[in-house]
Amino acid sequence: MRLGVASAFASLIGLSTAQLARYVTPSDSSVSFSLNIPTSTSDSGSGALFFQIRGPATGKSWIALGIGSSMVGAHIFVVYTDGSGNVTVSPRVAQGYFEPQFSSDPRITLLDGSGVVDGSIVANVRCDNCLSLADLSVTETRSNWIWGYKGGSAIDSSDVEADIQQHDNMGGFTFDLTRATGGDSGNPFVQSAQSSSPATGTRTSGGSTPTSTNGASSDDDDDDDDDDTNLGSGSSDGASSAISRITRMLKIHGILMGLAFAVFFPLGAIIIRVMPRPHHADAHMVVQIIGFALSIAGLAYGVMLAEDLRYLKKTHPVIGMVVMGGLFFQPIVGFIHHWLFKAKGKRTILADIHVYWGRALLILGIVNGGLGLDLANNTTGGKIAYAVVAGVMGLAWLVATVLYYAKGGNQAVGGGKLQSKPSPDGMTE
Ligand SMILES: *[C@@H]1O[C@H](CO)[C@@H](O)[C@H](O)[C@H]1NC(C)=O
Repeated sequence: MRLGVASAFASLIGLSTAQLARYVTPSDSSVSFSLNIPTSTSDSGSGALFFQIRGPATGKSWIALGIGSSMVGAHIFVVYTDGSGNVTVSPRVAQGYFEPQFSSDPRITLLDGSGVVDGSIVANVRCDNCLSLADLSVTETRSNWIWGYKGGSAIDSSDVEADIQQHDNMGGFTFDLTRATGGDSGNPFVQSAQSSSPATGTRTSGGSTPTSTNGASSDDDDDDDDDDTNLGSGSSDGASSAISRITRMLKIHGILMGLAFAVFFPLGAIIIRVMPRPHHADAHMVVQIIGFALSIAGLAYGVMLAEDLRYLKKTHPVIGMVVMGGLFFQPIVGFIHHWLFKAKGKRTILADIHVYWGRALLILGIVNGGLGLDLANNTTGGKIAYAVVAGVMGLAWLVATVLYYAKGGNQAVGGGKLQSKPSPDGMTE
């Protein structure tokens, strides 16, 4: 009500009545996001909206605002310096919790007043189709938005597809769209820029009319009761906890699968080749069953991740599911072979199937681990660690296999059908 009176007053004295909902980040009060929905848009329920992304030009490599409740699927607008005094606004969509990709869907226009202005990055943007793209209704009182920024040096690129580094601060908040509505300015930020009321978490009337705010003129530490925004914890917990949940699941999936495919499975394959009889088959079985159990647990996480991140059609999960599906037969074939071997004292074709099938799956699985690290945008350190472990184990496996054949274990190789002399483990090829 008070605000209604204030804006009516503003319009009476002929100032812009553009209403801005503004959100100031809890971690840096100089980073803010403002939103305006012109009355023409709110009346018709569709049309353009305006937003401003603002923050310090030094020490921030990029600042982003996104429409959505979590990073994945949100329409994100990443702003960075373009290297010639202005800013680049890069619309992006995230397919996962990693660098969002450029998206040409949002129809945006960079407006006057944008640029590197008095040491601030300012992007005044009109988006003609954001409401429909993000499925936002102008009557929504709790629309979900996310924000993020990365400290560091300026990107200075006019390329909308410039490579950006992962945010070091992020969160979520809500805008009451009904309270961002007002005015019919073609650029609501230019007028309000003059007054630049520091009011936080409240809409500010354009012009210099003192609007009645909930005493929220000092920003960072308040927990004002204005429901336009959630400063601090508020709804930002939702987005952060979703992200940390995904990060945790990625870690668990990676560790379980890494142990299974880069450690246990190769180890089991080595054991059957180098361990002295008679317990090598049992040891092989125990190690592979541990690997199998780890990989089943890893699969559970993988499937959850693929669903959450809408990854089901990516190469890594597809290969992963093929490998896991194939792996399912390994213990069965192995057991039957072992049982037949014990019963008949003769190796069967099952031995070949078990051995070659296992090799194919193991190689695919190890390669797929690398694809997974790549998909998850893992750190270089993580990739190197995996490459070293998988490489060492793979090499050991290769050496063990070659040595085995060199020592004559391969008498039946290539002549498996001609020679019937079984090796004691029955796994000779
Ligand atoms: C930045 O670009 C916009 C859009 O072209 C323009 O309106 C604005 O004046 C530019 N800002 C500066 C500082 O040149």
